[in-house]
Amino acid sequence: MAKYRIAWLPGDGIGNDVLNAAKIVLDRMELDAEYVPGEIGWEFWCREGNALPDRTIELLKKTDCCLFGAITSKPKQEADAELDVALKGKGYVYYSPIVKLRQLFNLRTNLRPCKAYPGNPLNYRENVDLVVFRENTEDLYSGVEFHPLPSEVMSVLCRHHERMKKFENTPLVDIAVSLRVNTRKACQNIVRDAFEYAKKHKRKSVTVVEKPNVIRETSGLMVREARKIAEEYPDIPLWETNIDAMCMWLVKNPEDYDVLVTSNMFGDIVSDLSAQLVGGLGFACSGNIGDDYAVFEPTHGSAPKYAGMNKVNPMATLLSVKLMLDWLGEDEKASRLESAVAEVIKKGKVRTYDMGGKSTSTDVAKEVAGKL
Ligand code: NAI
Ligand code: MG
Repeated sequence: MAKYRIAWLPGDGIGNDVLNAAKIVLDRMELDAEYVPGEIGWEFWCREGNALPDRTIELLKKTDCCLFGAITSKPKQEADAELDVALKGKGYVYYSPIVKLRQLFNLRTNLRPCKAYPGNPLNYRENVDLVVFRENTEDLYSGVEFHPLPSEVMSVLCRHHERMKKFENTPLVDIAVSLRVNTRKACQNIVRDAFEYAKKHKRKSVTVVEKPNVIRETSGLMVREARKIAEEYPDIPLWETNIDAMCMWLVKNPEDYDVLVTSNMFGDIVSDLSAQLVGGLGFACSGNIGDDYAVFEPTHGSAPKYAGMNKVNPMATLLSVKLMLDWLGEDEKASRLESAVAEVIKKGKVRTYDMGGKSTSTDVAKEVAGKL
């Protein structure tokens, strides 16, 4: 029996192209693993009314971790329109399968390293080396939303909060409310993960990115917990920056920052911004990490116009494989893979279209494999 069972979920569109590239590299490294293919994505929504079928969830439960490609996801009305006629009107509602995966397996930490590899023509600036820790299960993405606002909710809110009274006379159908729900435990967990990472990798600072001057309770909770936890790591300074200012500083002086930690919504924003500093979607890798399970994925979507063309940049996926190897404790393989990726970027002979080249996804994967 293989040492690891790894769930293999290509999903939609270019998800297949990039996971094929990952396979080339994993095979070359002879990781002692069995790859278990699973079904996820748009066609399962259309055919079964569920983009993440129960059988896939069961499959994941019998594996150590998962490598995921990308999925197609569409707004509510378009999703309804594409649902199989036999299923229409039966109460099926489209949910993003990746958000569902994060919540089902409590993959509470979203890890997104963004490093400017020397020689990448897409680097916005050299010497950028950021690692974003984004809380992955709560906040504005907890999914607790109302539209129209139920009248009981309105009256409870008016009773409990002075500021709600300003909305009292707005028709309920004209108010949408999305709750930002943040728990102390989740704040503590994400901040601790960030500091532990900083300690392990000898990083110079941790910056908590929130907006506590305005969003006093939720952002406030995160910053207050961060200050407490920071006391346990006297060698690593905690910096505090507001999300809006952070976006500006990341464009102005990205080299000054190191580990960033934040809640779900702000983390979504700041990690995309950080990714663009180091080459964009073709380089943006990620891990969704829980206590006993993790899903690794490039952060790009299914890019339908390139689906099946073997054309897109597989580096984001190869770097996600590197994160997976780290998580499995395969340190030597992880660092070998990263060095091979860095070498191919630096040499610049084999590049996909986004980097100004003409090579295929497979060419890039083979070139990396050849350097392992
Ligand atoms: P996208 O990330 O799929 O692609 C946008 C554009 O970025 C592409 O057209 C392409 O020009 C470029 N790009 C993306 N990945 C690339 C790569 N590896 N190499 C080179 N260039 C690359 O975003 P888009 O077009 O907004 O969404 C397409 C579908 O993907 C939608 O259905 C969306 O909902 C879904 N999506 C899924 C995500 C996931 O699976 N985690 C994340 C983001 C979007
Ligand atoms: Mg995003």
